[in-house]
Amino acid sequence: MTTKIQAKDHLIVALDTSSEEEALKLIKKLSNKIGYFKVGLELFSCIGPKIIDIIKDDGGKVFFDGKFLDIPNTVSKAVANIVKHKADMLNVYMSGGANMLQEAKKSVIEAAKTNNLPQPKLLGVTVLTSMTSDVLENDLKIQTQLNDYVLHLAMLGIKNGLDGIICSANEARLIRDRIEFQTKDDFLIVTPGIRPAWAQKNDQKRIATPEEAIKNGATHLVVGRPITDSKDPVDAVNKILEEIEDAIRV
Ligand code: C5P
Repeated sequence: MTTKIQAKDHLIVALDTSSEEEALKLIKKLSNKIGYFKVGLELFSCIGPKIIDIIKDDGGKVFFDGKFLDIPNTVSKAVANIVKHKADMLNVYMSGGANMLQEAKKSVIEAAKTNNLPQPKLLGVTVLTSMTSDVLENDLKIQTQLNDYVLHLAMLGIKNGLDGIICSANEARLIRDRIEFQTKDDFLIVTPGIRPAWAQKNDQKRIATPEEAIKNGATHLVVGRPITDSKDPVDAVNKILEEIEDAIRV
């Protein structure tokens, strides 16, 4: 039972829906069973920040996946607004560069202090799990190998005070091994693109099972459609928790 409580802390469920009703149904079914609800662009652009308030008022934790990327001033103002809504985690794009990352971090600290709130974790998005090395090389003209590029961005995040990064579980081991000596163990590695063996891949390319992700050093797994598209989301969550439990027991 204790392990089950620990397992759930690793699980973030992506509330990707354009329907408030659907989101509320999922929150009701899954709160207390999982660690965090992820509010991303789809739901946020539909309902706005009140969805964060609803989850927080219900006692849940929120990862606000707004993936901010803009000039430092705009990002820091947007970050402050999200901190005021008491999100527990939020993210910015690493490709905004060092200055943007520093301003975002400064804003988290100041907004938390001004509003007398705990500091949320600031994460950096490295390379989307729906992207392959082909996209990196041909569309974006980034000549570095995907793994090395993600590692480079992770190091940039550490250097600029971020609390963690978002990457695929395939890169998590490399990052965990390389950062061990440079930063504290509580550096978060949040991995989307999680697909249990029984789930569809959808548009995700760099995927891993929950067990692989945990074994590779991920601290949090983001799971959307394998749970939210399931006929029985609670059963899907339980199956994933069992897999996480097995992986953390080893
Ligand atoms: O449904 P699925 O499990 O693929 O959902 C993954 C979620 O994680 C989506 O909300 C997506 O926006 C998000 N995400 C991602 N890759 C990243 C960062 C976030 O897939 N690098």
